[in-house]
Amino acid sequence: MTFLIGGDLPVHRLGFGAMRLRGTPDRRAESIAVARRAVELGVTLFDTADSYDLGGNEELLAEALHPYKKDIVIATKAGQCHPGTDWIPLGRPEYLRQQAELSLRRLRLDRIDLFQLHRVDPLVPLADQIGALRRMQDEGKIRHVGLSEVTVEQIEEARTITPIVSVQNRYSHGDRRWEAVLDHCEREGIAFLPWQPLAGSLPAREALTWLLDRSPVIVPIPGTSWMTHLEENMRAVTTGAGSR
Ligand SMILES: NC(=O)c1ccc[n+]([C@@H]2O[C@H](COP(=O)([O-])OP(=O)(O)OC[C@H]3O[C@@H](n4cnc5c(N)ncnc54)[C@H](OP(=O)(O)O)[C@@H]3O)[C@@H](O)[C@H]2O)c1
Repeated sequence: MTFLIGGDLPVHRLGFGAMRLRGTPDRRAESIAVARRAVELGVTLFDTADSYDLGGNEELLAEALHPYKKDIVIATKAGQCHPGTDWIPLGRPEYLRQQAELSLRRLRLDRIDLFQLHRVDPLVPLADQIGALRRMQDEGKIRHVGLSEVTVEQIEEARTITPIVSVQNRYSHGDRRWEAVLDHCEREGIAFLPWQPLAGSLPAREALTWLLDRSPVIVPIPGTSWMTHLEENMRAVTTGAGSR
C-alpha cells in the first residue's frame, strides 16, 4: 500500500491533510495527538501549506512530529495567500522563494521533500513561477515539485522546466470535474493527491476506498482534527478494497 512519488519517495497510499488541525489553546493538544497517532497508524505523507493558519499549521506539524521519522514526507505549498477570508493566488518568484524559506524554518527542515505551487497565478507567467521552484531545487532547498488545481496543459508546460511529481486537485466520488487530469497523471505516473476527498454522499471510509480503487496513482489526504475520524479513515486501507 505504498506509492513512489517522484521515483524516490515511498509514501503510504493514505496521506493526511493537516489543514484541519487546530492550533488554538482548546484544540492544540488533541491536534498534536492526532498527527502523532497518524504516524502510528502508518501515515507517512503529511500535507500542509504556508497559508494554513498563516504558517501556524506548519509550526504545529513540526511541534507534533519533529524530529521526523526517516520515512515521513512533509508536503507543503505556497503561491496562494490567505489574508482574511479570501484565497488569492500570488506567484511572483520572489514571494515563492520567501515563502519556501519560511516553510523550511517553520518545519525545521533543511530541504522540503515536496513543494507544491498552491495555485497558478494568472498574472505571472507560469514559467517564472516554476522557474523559481526549479532554482530552489538546484540549491537543494526543495527536492520535488508538485502543482495544485491545474489543467493538463499547465502540467505539461511546467514539465518543460522541471519534473512534476504530484498534482493536487479537488476530486472525490462527488466531484469528478478533474477526471481528465487524473487520467493524465495515471498515464504519466504522477501522484494525484485529491483534496476534499470526503466531499460527496458516501460515508468517509467508503469515499476513501473508492478513491484508492479508482487509480493506483491516487494518494488521498483526508483531514480531521479528531482521533475517532482519523482512526475511521485509516480503516479504509486495512478493511476496504483499498487494502489490495
Ligand atoms: N490544494 C488545495 O487547494 C487544497 C484545498 C483544500 C484542502 N487541501 C488539503 O487537502 C486536505 C483535505 O481537504 P479537506 O480537509 O478540505 O477535506 P476532507 O479531507 O474531505 O475533509 C472534509 C471534512 O470531513 C470531516 N471528516 C474527516 N474524517 C471524517 C470522518 N471519518 N467522518 C466524518 N467526517 C470526517 C473533517 O472534519 P472533522 O475535523 O470534524 O473530522 C473535514 O472538515 C486538507 O487538509 C489540505 O491539506 C488542499
